[in-house]
Amino acid sequence: MHHPQEPPSGIHPLLAGRFSPHRFDPSALVDDQALELLLEAARWTPSAGNSQPWGFFIARPGEPDHDRVLPHLAPSSARWATDASLLVVTLTRRYVDDTQQMYSEFADYDLGQAVAHMTVQAQAMGLAAHQFRAFDLEGLTKELDPNPGWSIVSMVAMGKAADSPSELRDRRSVAHLRSAPWSPTE
Ligand SMILES: Cc1cc2nc3c(=O)[nH]c(=O)nc-3n(C[C@H](O)[C@H](O)[C@H](O)COP(=O)(O)O)c2cc1C
Repeated sequence: MHHPQEPPSGIHPLLAGRFSPHRFDPSALVDDQALELLLEAARWTPSAGNSQPWGFFIARPGEPDHDRVLPHLAPSSARWATDASLLVVTLTRRYVDDTQQMYSEFADYDLGQAVAHMTVQAQAMGLAAHQFRAFDLEGLTKELDPNPGWSIVSMVAMGKAADSPSELRDRRSVAHLRSAPWSPTE
């Protein structure tokens, strides 16, 4: 089922070179200008009906907001995310205010795409990104208290990678991508 391999030549270097580091350089900085560009990359992402259902909570080491986020990391992510130059909490607007009415059927889809664009922009700027779910969702939601209708979805640690891609970065084959939805479950 798994096919360990390198991305083939022909894949754009920004995509082929991307990986999720497990170590960040603690001395690196993401300055205001770099942060602005990362958020611009998200801003120009397409979304269903141009609904733009995304929002981001930003925290950098030394800022008071960093201390609000750190206690909610799980031990597994705290090991590397603490040294990242930037922590991004991603939020999506699933519902209209405090109703059960969907704001957008594609809210999570659109947020994921915005984060993808942000990670490619980061890569172009010499920064790496590690997206993660290993945090206390309930605790962080209480701490950040987003408006009704908004949900925290994920976090992203960004900074200078201080390790290399693992040799076990396996991926399913292209043939599997095309056949899996119609094949018997493995
Ligand atoms: C939504 C999402 C949640 C993730 N959660 C975690 C996590 O909690 N801990 C972790 O170490 N990596 C997490 N990852 C990173 C993936 O494990 C990683 O992208 C995958 O193994 C492929 O490796 P690569 O990004 O280096 O290609 C997450 C990635 C995504 C997109």
